[in-house]
Amino acid sequence: MSAILRETIRSLLEREEARYAAEHPRSRALFERAQNSLFRGVPMGWMTEWPGSFPIFMSEAEKARLRDVDGHVYVDLALGDSGALTGHSPLPTVEAICRQVRKGITTMLPSEDAVWVGEELARRFGLPYWQIYTTATDADRFAIKLARMATARDLVVVFDGCYHGSVDEALVSAKDGPRRAQHRQVIGPPPNPASRVIQFNDIDALEKALAPGDVACVLAEPAMTNAGIIWPEPGYHEALRELTRAYGTLLILDETHTICAGPGGCTRAWVLEPDLFTIGKSIAGGLPTAAMGLTQELAEILTTPPRGIPGKHFGIGTGGTVAGTVLQTAAIRATLGEVLTEAAFEKMIATATRLADGTATIIDAHELPWHVNRLGCRAEYRFVRQKPKNGEEADRAFDEELDSLVHVFMANRGILLTPFHTMVLVSPQTTVEDVDLHSEVFEELAGELIA
Ligand SMILES: Cc1ncc(COP(=O)(O)O)c(C=O)c1O
Repeated sequence: MSAILRETIRSLLEREEARYAAEHPRSRALFERAQNSLFRGVPMGWMTEWPGSFPIFMSEAEKARLRDVDGHVYVDLALGDSGALTGHSPLPTVEAICRQVRKGITTMLPSEDAVWVGEELARRFGLPYWQIYTTATDADRFAIKLARMATARDLVVVFDGCYHGSVDEALVSAKDGPRRAQHRQVIGPPPNPASRVIQFNDIDALEKALAPGDVACVLAEPAMTNAGIIWPEPGYHEALRELTRAYGTLLILDETHTICAGPGGCTRAWVLEPDLFTIGKSIAGGLPTAAMGLTQELAEILTTPPRGIPGKHFGIGTGGTVAGTVLQTAAIRATLGEVLTEAAFEKMIATATRLADGTATIIDAHELPWHVNRLGCRAEYRFVRQKPKNGEEADRAFDEELDSLVHVFMANRGILLTPFHTMVLVSPQTTVEDVDLHSEVFEELAGELIA
């Protein structure tokens, strides 16, 4: 294996950050001005996690490209961390949104689109009943609430290294409990998260966590995606399902990111059987929209849950009055019906495979102690040779300086990687030329690192 010297990483990082600062004067000026009105100079705190000492301010995004206020054009491999998995502003979704906006945005009543959406979600993911939410965080939160209602238990089991949005129960880590590892910069540890954190792929730990019989639900991604990509080991999903059933615990699968595996997510591809299913971000082309599915059995339990009689008003306090709107269902219909189709996924996965294979070839040729992992149209490289099998191993593989260097080096050469980790996403609009540019820049970086 080639040795990468710490000094090399640091001096390259310094050089690249200086170049970034020099080449983005307008973004820098906007960031400075924003200090007076926006907390931390951005509309959302995590936007400072992008490369460089200030974020790029964008002027427009189209298909798989993004232009900033300094006139630089980027191949966008971050794609809104899945919100723009469709490519930016997909035409059928934009047209559906524009049509619907003129006919009503929010009415507290369903339209015909909602029925189409329910039927399509059931067809894709296999669960019979659906509700529409505004964010994946919300869908997860309410899935947990329903699980608690149905089981009359409080605890939630989550996996170390997971991220399910700002769901209190999931903002925990094995090492720090509710105080998650600092590098993840998660704000506001919950006062009483009511969760148990275990390592993914550890069947014994799972059984130990469920055995007391006090766990309402396990909240999981079918493959982990927020600590790098971590695949389930053979037999893990079977054990997860058997053990949750054996101990009366419900299984929530969150496919917000793992939809990258195909049009029916991992649930369809791997024939999984969750009790509750959540998805957000991409299903309406980036319009804030999410969905939650539930089984027939659970729907029946919830009509007379152990913790009270829901009666006529069941559901109030769920989702909110601007969830499940006519605008959201119009956008989901267009996105699932015309954009994130079976054919689109075939193309996206083929392009992502080209990217991952190209990256792996460069890693091998330069004997870098790194690896690349892929799940459908999502790929991620990590700075260790062995693929982590759980959050603890993934945490040990994190190298902040190298991570910062890769991001800023790529940004300086017209490629945007997802902040927080070295993840790339491929949309139906991402071209072979786009991913080949990524390989070219990756090769240049590899050459500099081991020079
Ligand atoms: C797996 C998973 N679930 C849920 C969420 C929350 O999504 P949102 O921030 O859109 O609510 C995220 C966000 O990254 C996620 O990765």
